[in-house]
Parts: sequence; C-alpha cells; structure tokens
Amino acid sequence: MADGSGNMTAMDLYESLTSQGELVRTLKTEKAVKADIDAAVKLLLKLKADYKQVTGQDYKAGCPPLESTVLEDTGPAAAVDGEDMVDPWNVSTTSAKGVDYDKLIVRFGSSKVDQELVDRIERVSGKKPHRFLRRGIFFSHRDMHQVLDAYEKNKSFYLYTGRGPSSEAMHVGHLIPFIFTKWLQDTFDIPLVIQLTDDEKYLWKDLSLEDCHRYAVENAKDIIACGFDVNKTFIFSDLDYMGASPDFYRNVVKIQKHVTFNQVKGIFGFGDSDCIGKIAFPAIQAAPSFSNSFPQIFKGRKDIQCLIPCAIDQDPYFRMTRDVAPRIGYPKPALLHSTFFPALQGAQTKMSASDANSSIFLTDTPKQIKNKVNKHAFSGGKDTIEEHRKYGGNPDVDVSFMYLTFFLEDDEQLDKIRQDYASGALLTGELKKRLIDTLQPMITAHQERRKQVTEEMVLKFMTPRPLDFNF
Ligand code: TRP
Repeated sequence: MADGSGNMTAMDLYESLTSQGELVRTLKTEKAVKADIDAAVKLLLKLKADYKQVTGQDYKAGCPPLESTVLEDTGPAAAVDGEDMVDPWNVSTTSAKGVDYDKLIVRFGSSKVDQELVDRIERVSGKKPHRFLRRGIFFSHRDMHQVLDAYEKNKSFYLYTGRGPSSEAMHVGHLIPFIFTKWLQDTFDIPLVIQLTDDEKYLWKDLSLEDCHRYAVENAKDIIACGFDVNKTFIFSDLDYMGASPDFYRNVVKIQKHVTFNQVKGIFGFGDSDCIGKIAFPAIQAAPSFSNSFPQIFKGRKDIQCLIPCAIDQDPYFRMTRDVAPRIGYPKPALLHSTFFPALQGAQTKMSASDANSSIFLTDTPKQIKNKVNKHAFSGGKDTIEEHRKYGGNPDVDVSFMYLTFFLEDDEQLDKIRQDYASGALLTGELKKRLIDTLQPMITAHQERRKQVTEEMVLKFMTPRPLDFNF
C-alpha cells in the first residue's frame, strides 16, 4: 500500500514494524545466529526512525497510526473521516481490533444477531448453535425471524451463497461462509445453490474468460471438500449456467429492467468509465435469490424463501435485491452476515489472495503454516517476556487469538486461553503454538478431502438437475 508517490505510508511502516518486531523475537527465541539477529534489529531501528519521521510519534505495538490508508475506490460506501469503509471491493479501518461491526449494523440498517436469535435457532433446530453464531462471527442479519417463523410452520427455505473465482488459491478465510453454510444445510436439511461468479472476475480483473472459468472449477473442488451433499447442492459457474437456463436469464433481465443506473451508482459507486458489464452484473448476483431461477430444483415455484449466508461486504448486492424483489413479485431474500477474517498482519483489512504472507492457504504445508504464524501473525503480546508476564497481552488485537475464535471448537479452552493471555500466564509463542496445532490438522484434513474430489464429482455438482427435495 504505497501512497502513490512511492513512499511508505504510516500504515505500511506500522505493519512492517510489527512484522519486523515479530521476526526479531522469533530469531531470539529460536537462538538464531548473532549476525542475523543484528541485521534484523538494525532494520527494526531504521523502521522505527522512519515511522517517527512520518507520524511524529513513537511506534507502539498494538497502536496503529491514526489514519486510514486503504482508499483505492471512493464510492459512496467510502468512509467519512475515521469511519470504517466496507463495500464489495474494499475494507479498511484504522482500529487494530478491526471494523466496528455494531456501527456497521446501524449504517447498513440490518439487525444484530443477538442472544435471543441464537437461542431461537437452537430451539427451532434442536442443535447446538455453530461456534460462528455463539461467538458473534455471523453477527448481523436481515429477516431471520421471518425465516424461522415460516420454518416452524413447516415452510421450507433454501440457501444461496457464492464465490468470485479470482485465482486457484483459496485461503482459510474463504472457507468461513462455506463451513457455516454446510452447518445450516445439515441443520435444516434444505437445498443449497452456490454461484461461482467467473463472469464478475472477468469484468473486474485482468484475467481471460478461460482462466476465470478454470478457477471456478478449481474452486468448486475446495468448496466440495467442505463436505456438501451432492444430492442437496447445485454449484454453478455463471459463464455456463446463464446460457443454459432460460429461467435464470429471464430473472436477470427482469431485475435489470427494475434497477436504474442511478441506483447502482448510488449503491456501488460505478462511474462513467466503468464498462457496462460491471453496471449490469449486480442483476446476475441477485438472480439466484429467487427460486424460479432454478426450475429443475423448485419445479418453477417462485415463492420459496431464500437465505443468504455471506460476508458483510456482499450486502450492497442484496440491499439492491431486496429492493427490487417486491416490485417483480418475489419474496425478499433473508441474510446472515459474517465479520471479515483478518489478515495475518492484523484486523485492519481482509486477507488478500495476492499476498502469500497475508494468509494461510488451503495448499500450505504444515511447515509453511508454522512459519507463517510464527513470522507474520500480528501479536498482542508485549515486547519482552518480563513485560508480558507483568502486564499481560491483548487478545483483542492478537491475530492468533482471533483465528482461534474462528477455528477452536471448545468454548472453555478458548476462554481459558483468553484469560491466560490477558494475565500474562500464556506467552505469545505458546499462543501461536495453540493456533498452529489447530490449523495444521484442519488444513491437512481439507487437503485429503480435496484429493478425493474427482472430475466426475465436480461435473455432477455442476449439472443442473433435480435435488432430493419435493417442492
Ligand atoms: N461477489 C462474490 C465474490 O466476489 C461472489 C458471490 C456471488 C457471492 N454470489 C454470492 C457471495 C452470494 C456470497 C453470497 O466473492
């Protein structure tokens, strides 16, 4: 994130300093050769001096500089001074704890997933709520009570989620909606459609149509490896399905007729020089929210309620969808929104598939996982062991702790880790080891399941066909 003039911004320096501090600590604890430690310390001191020059302040671990730096696209969703910015293409915040999600609920006009809703999901489903619900990771919703009211009266619904296949490499953050969707599917025993927006990635990125389509098929394998039931799940590439399904395309056109350029400009910030493909695309992401886009599954019915689990940055698409739905005679889709999965470097931004060190990839080896966590996971610990023991660490900004809240199933263990880290009883290296021990078997198991996914299985998941449900 250089600032355009080739200089490092305060946030760049802060991030470099943080990882350099980590490196020095790792080298020291691993008793590396003195020359390596000295070189690392020298760079650390240089970065500290640069930081002071740029910000006028001393670097303090856990206290990022007070300025927002990720502002590539200034659409209407962009942040006003000091506010978090969240739209489908950018996420930025100045706080090390990450985006203020309560404020986002107010700004987006959604509802909080409160204890009452979590309890109700438990009552209605008879299953212990997923840890993502217990821990506020799926933190916001639209119309969930309505979905549950109907479900209690034996009215079924279906799930819709998706992924933009921008590369072959998926990271753990990409799995969050799919892990949760799998739980919802198992819990409520309902159909699921998964949209792979290869068309979207072609329009937005410098990629060929063929590459985007190939990534869609490759990504489908990682999605299938999450354990979806082929008899209950339809995965589709837009490039394939749009041309194959007259009903889907009819819905796209209906939506396009009922949304003006002014509206998408307001929602997505499109400008005069954006290609017309981008301007028309939101209708394609909206169409799967309507059950008659899938006649093979819903026998042409248009009244089956849709529930969309997704990260909060996708909400603009579905605000638009919910706005047009009644005007074209369809029910509004309900939503469950998740927080972002933080980058290893800290919760200020979401992870980027283009930076290998910002995330744990699904193809990483156990050794790579260990090194990445040790070297790059932003720490809420103190600079020296003595200080850490005395004052304790800050789990709220510590990325290893954040990752454990996503992946460690046991609530009691997680709570104990939080307390021990905050009191100083647990050191950063020990906390990181807990995370490494959690991630390694999880990623290895994923890789084994992915190996079992054959081309025939992918083809079956991606073939339009009836599912095991009677509508
Ligand atoms: N636009 C999303 C992305 O870039 C992909 C997507 C399409 C999606 N339909 C969705 C995500 C529905 C969540 C829910 O990742």
